[in-house]
Amino acid sequence: MKTQLERASRDKGTDWQALRKDFPILDQKVHGHPLVYLDNAATSQKPRVVLEALNRYYETDNANVHRGIHELSNRSTVSFEAARARTAHFLGADSSEIVFTRGTTESINLVAQAWGAKNIRAGDTILLTEMEHHSNIVPWQLLAERVGAKIRWLPVTGDEGLLDLDRLDEFLTRDVKLFSFTHISNMLGTVNPAAELCERASKLGVVTLLDAAQSAGHCPLDVREIGCDFLAFSGHKICGPTGIGVLFGRQSLLEQTPPWQGGGEMILNVGFDKTTYKQPPHRFEAGTPDISGAIVLQVALDYLDAIGRRAIFEHDQELASYAHEKLAALGGIRLFGPKKGRAPAEGGRAGIVSFLLNDVHAHDVVTFADQRGIALRGGHHCNQPLHKKLGIESSARASFYFYNTKAEVDRLIEVIRETQKFFGGARR
Ligand code: ALA
Repeated sequence: MKTQLERASRDKGTDWQALRKDFPILDQKVHGHPLVYLDNAATSQKPRVVLEALNRYYETDNANVHRGIHELSNRSTVSFEAARARTAHFLGADSSEIVFTRGTTESINLVAQAWGAKNIRAGDTILLTEMEHHSNIVPWQLLAERVGAKIRWLPVTGDEGLLDLDRLDEFLTRDVKLFSFTHISNMLGTVNPAAELCERASKLGVVTLLDAAQSAGHCPLDVREIGCDFLAFSGHKICGPTGIGVLFGRQSLLEQTPPWQGGGEMILNVGFDKTTYKQPPHRFEAGTPDISGAIVLQVALDYLDAIGRRAIFEHDQELASYAHEKLAALGGIRLFGPKKGRAPAEGGRAGIVSFLLNDVHAHDVVTFADQRGIALRGGHHCNQPLHKKLGIESSARASFYFYNTKAEVDRLIEVIRETQKFFGGARR
């Protein structure tokens, strides 16, 4: 199937319109208008091959893994471990460095509760940035409270949404034990120079965690090139199903990390007085994992790689730059995030544009757009501290993926213009 899929997608090249047809959900009307789905940073849609693979697994192979010695269990185990190997390949890692979780949030919590609780002590510093999603804030706050560590925040420059790298030396100091930062901000769309930051951290012996929730499946990602120690992402944002996530951990770090949840699957031997544990990654996968999720994630990874992650990044970026430009030209709009899109390694902006219309609440913008078939996100996007820093409570956000088109951006602009007229008119 992989070869067929690769061939099929390669034949399409980067014919985005043809790829779009792989997503049945996009072909519908919402409130009487063609659906324009621009909420991809929250979750992506799923291509037919992924939907079919999910069905096929339950119709033909469903059984628990690593337990049975019957045929179905063997098939499930082989496919599940093949999915781990495929995920490792997707990240340039080894299979033993890939832990399946429920999503980015659970991956980060695993590192905080297992590696962090063992290695971070009273008085140590955890370095985060002001642009983190709550899932890369709260697990560290819980840990810091528990062990008496401090959290410091690398500042964001303002509406342009860049990390203030001129101040990095002031924050990335020898008392920092862990530097955890987002690769692409889910509000600002900023692409942070991950390799440069990891290199600076590793020179000081600081362990790094890269939150790749918005970058996996949107740009090339190689853990050895980036040089991060941990990396987390979710399957559902990259054409896979909900409920499956990935944690990459450098082998030497995973080996020193104690289990974080106990139960079946993760043990070598259980006695009344003592239990011994498996080696990573299985040590971190207690209980029945999301077997179908992992197996189907593999299909999503094949699908994305057949298109090419660099081509996807360029397409997302082109749409976001176009949207940014057109929104700016409307006037009366506050835009957040970098103006320029650059290559992932150089920073710049990815396929996410957040904005606010003067005097119109973000929820009104999103509701007005929804009534016209456009799916945006409005609110604080799980970035309350960042919104507070920018002096706002909420923003509207358009986030793109490879199946979105320029015509959809034009439709967004038309509807935002209508929104301005409608609410401007209501005020008079
Ligand atoms: N993290 C997701 C978002 O930004 C849910 O929408």
